[in-house]
Amino acid sequence: MARSRRDPAPRWTAVFLLWTALCCLFVPAVMVKHENFKTCDQSGFCRRNRQFADTAAATSSWSSPYTVDPTTIAFKDGELHATVVKTLQDGVQNVELPLTVTFLDSGVARVTLDETKRQKGDITLRHDSKARKERYNEAGKWTLVGGLKVADGAALSEKAEQGYTKVFYGDGSKHQAIIRHAPFGIEFQRDGETQVKFNERGLLNLEHWRSKIEKPAEEKKDGEEEKKEEEKKEEAAGEDESTWWDETFGGNTDSKPRGPEAVALDITFPGYEHVFGIPEHATRLSLKTTRGGDGAYSEPYRLYNADVFEYEMDSPMTLYGAIPFMQAHRKGSTVGVFWLNAAETWVDVVKAKSTANPLSLGTKGHTDTQTHWISESGLLDVFVFLGPTPQDLTRQYGELTGYTAMPQSFAIAYHQCRWNYVTDEDVKDVDRKFDKHKIPYDVIWLDIEYTQEKKYFTWDPLTFVNPDTMGKQLDKSQRKLVVIIDPHIKNTNDYPVIDELKKKDLAVKNKDGNQYEGWCWPGSSMWIDCFNPAAISWWKGLFKYDSFKGTLPNTFIWNDMNEPSVFNGPETTMPKDNIHFGGWEHRDVHNVNGMTFHNATYQAISERKKGELRRPFVLTRSFYSGSQRSAAMWTGDNLAEWSHLEASLPMILNQGISGFPFAGADVGGFFGNPSKELLTRWYQAGIYYPFFRGHAHIDTRRREPYVPGAPYTEIITQALRLRYQLLPAWYTAFREAHTTGAPIVRPNFYVHPEDERGFAIDDQLYIGSTGLLAKPVTKEGATSVDVYLADDQPYYDFFDYTLYQGSGTHTVPAPLEKIPLLMQGGNIIPRRDRPRRSSGLMKFDPFTLVVVLDKDGAAKGELYIDDGETFDYETGAYIHRRFAFDGKRNVLTSTNAVPVGAKATAKLEAYLKSMNKVRVEKVIIVGAPKTWKGKTEAIVMEEGAKESARKKTIAMEFHSGSGKSADWAIVRDPKVGIGRGWKIDFS
Ligand code: NOJ
Repeated sequence: MARSRRDPAPRWTAVFLLWTALCCLFVPAVMVKHENFKTCDQSGFCRRNRQFADTAAATSSWSSPYTVDPTTIAFKDGELHATVVKTLQDGVQNVELPLTVTFLDSGVARVTLDETKRQKGDITLRHDSKARKERYNEAGKWTLVGGLKVADGAALSEKAEQGYTKVFYGDGSKHQAIIRHAPFGIEFQRDGETQVKFNERGLLNLEHWRSKIEKPAEEKKDGEEEKKEEEKKEEAAGEDESTWWDETFGGNTDSKPRGPEAVALDITFPGYEHVFGIPEHATRLSLKTTRGGDGAYSEPYRLYNADVFEYEMDSPMTLYGAIPFMQAHRKGSTVGVFWLNAAETWVDVVKAKSTANPLSLGTKGHTDTQTHWISESGLLDVFVFLGPTPQDLTRQYGELTGYTAMPQSFAIAYHQCRWNYVTDEDVKDVDRKFDKHKIPYDVIWLDIEYTQEKKYFTWDPLTFVNPDTMGKQLDKSQRKLVVIIDPHIKNTNDYPVIDELKKKDLAVKNKDGNQYEGWCWPGSSMWIDCFNPAAISWWKGLFKYDSFKGTLPNTFIWNDMNEPSVFNGPETTMPKDNIHFGGWEHRDVHNVNGMTFHNATYQAISERKKGELRRPFVLTRSFYSGSQRSAAMWTGDNLAEWSHLEASLPMILNQGISGFPFAGADVGGFFGNPSKELLTRWYQAGIYYPFFRGHAHIDTRRREPYVPGAPYTEIITQALRLRYQLLPAWYTAFREAHTTGAPIVRPNFYVHPEDERGFAIDDQLYIGSTGLLAKPVTKEGATSVDVYLADDQPYYDFFDYTLYQGSGTHTVPAPLEKIPLLMQGGNIIPRRDRPRRSSGLMKFDPFTLVVVLDKDGAAKGELYIDDGETFDYETGAYIHRRFAFDGKRNVLTSTNAVPVGAKATAKLEAYLKSMNKVRVEKVIIVGAPKTWKGKTEAIVMEEGAKESARKKTIAMEFHSGSGKSADWAIVRDPKVGIGRGWKIDFS
């Protein structure tokens, strides 16, 4: 089995060392095993629905067989109910599908379609299955946390129109849903203009339950001809039964006890040329089309969380996580849909261009993006967002699924990982080496080899003899340890964790109702079923300090393999007919499964002993909408190749706009040994990942930043220091994400939604609202990069203040030692400039403010800080300042950004007291006016200071820039508190 290659001997033996060394010499060419994963054609429901789409497109008289029964329409309290009738082929029988359209206070609409017969449980399952009979209707239970207040103002249109029902909703009733009765379809309009259309192409397809009509065996044998005839007839009628029942792939048979039950819909975005989102795929930000042709994919984007070993670039293949949220963008408008379904899902994307008619003036050509969503089971449940800005979309999606958790401050600093640090002494040694080389880092990680024979919650007694001492050494410099805990539990004797899992009956079941057994790192394993509340309670107990001995308050958790990865399972995961708590089939819940696991871990480490409530840190590989509330993610097993470095940027940007911004990629590349240049460039890019971790496969050579030597180590150290210097800006960006859903790193279209030329740009990024614009080098041997500027503000090089101005592309020098980073005029950037060993040691360091003036001489910015560890910020214990430079009066002010009327709690008082001495130590004005030349003083006024100190004069230096670099001024140590109000007058 291919997997065993990754599973070395449990001990660190001489043989293993030799083997590792050999592996390092011969790095095999790696490529995903396509044959292990289904194509759409090999996935019955995807194939059927694509065929359905092809038939519809090829039939000029195609009419969708779904109609709204007008007599059933009822509208009350912001909700419309009706019955949609599906007319079957015989034209006589009908299937009833209850429709609900809910108009939410936020201006979002939600459309659900169910199946009456299955709601009532009035169906028979095949194979004596014990699975639930309803369509899966609990994806929202794991995903939605708010934003569901129904709109008071939504109202049916007074004007009765034959064949349509219209509802006005949204702020100022600007939105309108036009429900067409026959065939059923919905148009969503904003200000009278259609933005989103359901079932325009007639591809709605809710496969209703039907019983299998077994054909008599003899007939099958001697009636081959007859059978073929039959199939032909069925196909002509769109009823090809060949993929309805038991399906086999790669030697695994899925018993499909409910038969075909897919749900599919076409969703069109008229006039929208770009669609973004639906991670996780190794693709560009602006999604390519999927129906073949030049440069296009021929497979739909697949969302089926899977451990795709050695995944490939530029592909719609599925990866580890799924967020079925898509945004369509054009100049002046962003709209979107959230397809709330936890089953395997495929999405086709097509662009339909209409060319301008040269004879009719004023008619412009435009592009519609047509999408086709296909899920294997569950309800049809879709949210529609009408924007109009990208910010509206991320905010409203965040209201529904939650905003990203506020991390502990260490979690956004640098993490050092590899598979594996092999002993506790090894960990301590790496820790000391970082210090010796004066390289900052915050967290060191332990992969699976720390355990005794892959039994989680144990330590290998031979290699990790004193985990306690190891943890304490890290704590001396406020560093942390992250250990891996996977969801598969070794099925062995003499391991209390598996004994309890079995005894308490908390594992996922197979189709026959017995505890499911499969194969993963430990060999035979069982999987905790976190859909079961009792399993979560039990899981929480396992992390208590007195249970998981050797862990300390500075130990945090990594959840890997939670797709779940099952080495001998179909497509490396669990059989779809496995059964979870509540009787749901794995098929129904597959994509939320990983999230239930990392949620349980989050709960477990929130309070590991009574009263010790701290923000957890959990890294997950598998994710779904809502994962952002409790975890960070990374893009899994990438390769030490330039193409993977390049791909990491659009992937991380996409995570950001899809509501899960705490994202990163393995710095250096997981498989293979990066060249020193690649490693260096990867660190220079990695400092812009919200989650910043170096990681490497067990077969690779050591590559900690101190390993490559001169000049690389020094250059990498500078990059790391830059990340640490900018931690205040990063933390402020996290705060914004936590309160508004805005991405932490942002693509061009999000920051400049009107700039059409920049919509597809995905290789440069803005950090939060700071105006910092980074363009990482991702090409071997590059000595410069082209940075695209969307506006005509001045942009200054972060290091030497070289000016770049004018919308368009600018060439910025980028020799190896240089990180291309620009500051957009108009922003004030908070920094902490003193190099330290870890972020914890910077807690009381002074701040530097870099005021970057815009073309009118003004700037503004923000800083958010709190204790970086507890939940006290939730009750107001934080500092949030707003800085503004008034270009007319030449005055810089710091004012309170905390909402007026916020309570002054004891915790806030205590926090402010602890920060009382923390001050601003430098203010740098970039692009300082020429008129300041010769000035040597500025005046500082601080609120609350003693009368004598209220107004003081401080020295100011003015520096004339040379060549293309800007003039700048600096005041040192204005002695103003970071938590207080103050003014500096430069006039
Ligand atoms: C797979 C993960 O993606 C990788 O990061 C990790 O090192 C291995 N599992 C071993 O735990």
